[in-house]
Amino acid sequence: MSTPAAAQDLRDWLDRVDALGELKRVSGAHWNLELGCITEINNRQRGPCLLFDDIVDYPSGFRVATGSTGSPARLAATLRLPTGVSTRELVQVLRGKSPEWSERAKDFPPQYVDSGPILENVKSGSEINLLDFPVPLWNEQDGGRFLGTGDAVVTRDLDSDWINVGTYRMMVHDQRTCGIHFAANHHGRVHMERYHQAGKPFPVLASFGHDPLLFLFAGVELPVGMCEYNYVGAVMGEPAKVIRGEVTGLPMPAGAEIVLEGFCRPGNVRKEGPFGEFLGYYTPIDMAHPVFEVERIYHRNNPILLGSPPGRPPHDYSYSKTVIRSALLHDALEKAGMPGIVSCWADEVGGSRTLLIVSVRQQYQGHARQVGLLASQCHVGYWLGRYVIVVDEDIDPSNLEDVMWAVSTRCDPGRDIEILQRLWGTKIDPLSVTHPGEVQYSARAVIDACRTYEYRDAFPTVAKASPELQQKILEKWKDVLGTKK
Ligand SMILES: Cc1cc2nc3c(=O)[nH]c(=O)nc-3n(C[C@H](O)[C@H](O)[C@H](O)COP(=O)(O)O)c2cc1C
Repeated sequence: MSTPAAAQDLRDWLDRVDALGELKRVSGAHWNLELGCITEINNRQRGPCLLFDDIVDYPSGFRVATGSTGSPARLAATLRLPTGVSTRELVQVLRGKSPEWSERAKDFPPQYVDSGPILENVKSGSEINLLDFPVPLWNEQDGGRFLGTGDAVVTRDLDSDWINVGTYRMMVHDQRTCGIHFAANHHGRVHMERYHQAGKPFPVLASFGHDPLLFLFAGVELPVGMCEYNYVGAVMGEPAKVIRGEVTGLPMPAGAEIVLEGFCRPGNVRKEGPFGEFLGYYTPIDMAHPVFEVERIYHRNNPILLGSPPGRPPHDYSYSKTVIRSALLHDALEKAGMPGIVSCWADEVGGSRTLLIVSVRQQYQGHARQVGLLASQCHVGYWLGRYVIVVDEDIDPSNLEDVMWAVSTRCDPGRDIEILQRLWGTKIDPLSVTHPGEVQYSARAVIDACRTYEYRDAFPTVAKASPELQQKILEKWKDVLGTKK
C-alpha cells in the first residue's frame, strides 16, 4: 500500500527533538523491567527523550519512546511554540491559550484521508497478537504488561457525533484482549455506559504511537463535547489527518504507529493492575474493568510504541501536566474575577493535583483566603485536590523551599488554615484506604501563607541582601561566587 509522508506523527516529532539535541537512542534493553527502570531513572534526572531499539526478544526496529514531554524545549516543540524558553516563561506563554484553542477548535474538524503509513500492516483474526510489540513490564509490582500509557483512546457518543480522545491505561490480558481503565466521569466511561445501558457493544479504537501533541491533550480534561482532534488541530493551525477504522468507523491518526480496534462488550469485565500510578503508589486490584476485545491491528513498518509510565514523581508526564495545569489555574482564577494573581503552580510532587500554589498581590482583607478557596474548587482543583497554598508576590510558587519558608514563617496554623470537609474524593487517592465505603469524599486544606493583610506593613522585613547589593557583590566576587544568583 502507498505511504505518503505524514507530518503530525511521532517520527517527525522525534526528528525535531533530535535536532534540539534532546533525543538519546538506547540499544539492547529488556522489555522486562529494564526499559521501565531506565525510563524512571532518566525522568528523575530530567534526562532526554529515550528511543529504545533492539529490545530483547523483539525484532530490531520495533521501538519504544519515553520521556516525550519532560523538558521545556520538548514541551514547547510539541506545542508548536518557540523553544529556548524557561518553565516559567512557558507557563506565561500558555496563559489564555486554552480558551483561544477551545474557541478555534470548531474551525479544525479532523480531515479524513484514504491512506497513510498506519495502513502498512493490517491484521485480523488469528494474526492478532498484542505481544508482537515490545510491551514493557514497567514496574516490579505491576500486574501485567501495560501497552497503554501514552495512548489515545478514541470513542463516540451513542447518539451524537461527539468523538472523544482520552488517555487511559491498558494492560494486556492475553494475545487478543486488554483491560481499559476508564475512571468514573471520564469521557470514555461516560460514552461506554450509554452503549452498555442500551445493551450494545462499545466500539473502541486506540492509538499507541502518535504526535505527542495528541497524547498531551488526550490526558487533560477538555470540556464535555469537545473532540481532542479538533483541539489539537487548533493548536497546530491545521486539521489532524485521520483514517476511518474498518471495524468501528472511528478515526485513527493517519500517521499513527500502532492502532487497535474492537469492542468492550456489556458484562465483559476483568480485574487489572496493580499499576504504579501518578501519585507515586501502586493502585490495588480492587475493581474489574472493561475488557477490550481486539478485532483489528494496524501498524507501520518498524513501529514505535509511545510509552509514558507514571510512578513516584517526577515521572514521565508530571512535568508537562504541571506546566499546562499551572497555566489553566491562572486562567481559571482570573476568569473567576480574582485580581492580583501573580503566578500559579500545580506542583509535580502532587501529580499537579494535590498541591496547588498561588502567589498574589493582596488587595483587600480576605483576598488571599478567597483565592485559595476558589483554587480548591475550580476545574483544575476540584478532583483529587488536597492542599492549596497562597503566598505573597515575593515568593516563587514553583520553588518549594521558598513556599515552605513562607508557610513556616507567615502562616499561623490555628488561624490561617481552612479545612473543607466532604469534597469530591476518589479511590485513586492513596489515602482512600483510610476512607471506608464505596462513595469517596476527601478534605481540602487552604493554607494562607501570606503576611496578614492588616499587619503587612508592620511585618518584619526580610533579612536578605537587596538585589542591587547582590548584583554588585556578584560582579566583584565572581571568582568566589561564580555567576549564579
Ligand atoms: C499517561 C496517563 C495515563 C492515564 N491513565 C488514566 C486511566 O487509566 N484512567 C483514567 O480514567 N484516566 C487516566 N488518565 C487521566 C486522563 O487521561 C485524563 O483525566 C483525561 O482528561 C481523560 O480524558 P477525558 O477528559 O476525555 O475523559 C491518564 C493520563 C495520563 C497522561
